[in-house]
Amino acid sequence: MEATTDIVIRNASLPDGRRGMDLAIADGRIAAVDAALPLRGAQEIDAGGDLVSPPFVDAHFHMDATLSYGLPRVNQSGTLLEGIALWGELKPQLTQEALVERAMRYCDWAVARGLLAIRTHVDVCDDRLLAVEALLEVQRRVAPYLDMQLVAFPQDGLLRSPTALANLKRAIGMGVDVVGGIPHFERTMADGAESVRILCEFAAEQGLRVDMHCDESDDPLSRHIETLACHSHRLGLHGRVAGSHLTSMHSMDNYYVSKLLPLMKEAGVAAIANPLINITLQGRHDSYPKRRGMTRVPELIAAGIDVAFGHDCVMDPWYSLGSGDMLEVAHMGLHVAQMTGQDAMRACYAAVTEAPARILGLEGYGLAPGCHADLVLLDAASPVEAIRLRAARRLVMRRGKIVSESPRAVARLSLPGRPELADFRL
Ligand code: FE2
Repeated sequence: MEATTDIVIRNASLPDGRRGMDLAIADGRIAAVDAALPLRGAQEIDAGGDLVSPPFVDAHFHMDATLSYGLPRVNQSGTLLEGIALWGELKPQLTQEALVERAMRYCDWAVARGLLAIRTHVDVCDDRLLAVEALLEVQRRVAPYLDMQLVAFPQDGLLRSPTALANLKRAIGMGVDVVGGIPHFERTMADGAESVRILCEFAAEQGLRVDMHCDESDDPLSRHIETLACHSHRLGLHGRVAGSHLTSMHSMDNYYVSKLLPLMKEAGVAAIANPLINITLQGRHDSYPKRRGMTRVPELIAAGIDVAFGHDCVMDPWYSLGSGDMLEVAHMGLHVAQMTGQDAMRACYAAVTEAPARILGLEGYGLAPGCHADLVLLDAASPVEAIRLRAARRLVMRRGKIVSESPRAVARLSLPGRPELADFRL
């Protein structure tokens, strides 16, 4: 008699290039992956040759600001600094209820896009810690279907804002997971370096991960990533530290970068670029040519450093667009970094899936037997095609349960002189 299991997905393509694969799922985990599995599922799903992928992971987001576009006004200049000023105007008006409602709505968007893990920064420079309370509540509510990791983020500067350090420690005490920072926003380079030292020592003491907004600037002399790598190495934080943005690296001297990348590798520091935001916020003081501003993604990957692409913002004081679609993020990253080679395009897909999963330290991530049955069935045959089409997410599964379904992207074409095409695949 044929053995049975909960679910079998038939004829799937996988991100590593394998085709015609079956995946068996039992008790919320991947039980087996092979060609023509001799198992019958209580539920059988035909992938029809389409891509089955582990879910998308966003390594860098701001859930406390998301979907607040236009509150209390729009960013007229579209610059980073007006965005920070605008967020400062909005903060006193925030209510916990509205924060929770917007974040929950964003998480619904995320799940529908196959995005099942998000690391979000939460501003701790409001003494009420309203956003911290709100996002901890959201983290609890979405836990059955989405992994949310919170970073205590001193938006106004750890040393520049008088209560930031105490608030950051309070936030960690309340259950926030990761230590954040913003060294380039401190008053001086020396203060920036000092903030990195304080935060890394605190993280080491508490056994926590670190993810700092670092060198989000076009100033080639903004080198806080060097200090971050130095303290990470000194304190043994290898594999637990990420530098977010690192845009100044775009403008650094090549010789200096040739020293910096091995330092990051030695310290096990990962890099998180945010292509949609970097390409719109950086280079704003340039005439022409205008710098792209995104960090050196292909060079970081070649140096063996984990690189993720984050969404950063969706409809907030800094960015009025976005929809929680990590394929849009990968698409932009690929273009900005000119990563059009075959391996490079696959690396862009990894930058929104497996690389951020490693950076977040997600347990049981992937499609190997034993991993959680968290996956996405895409309306595309390969990672590159998924990026090209920003493919529809036919099905999203969490712990072996379908949590979202979408129709394939098709059109009905009625062209003069041509037979009608009812199911034209886009
Ligand atoms: Fe950010």
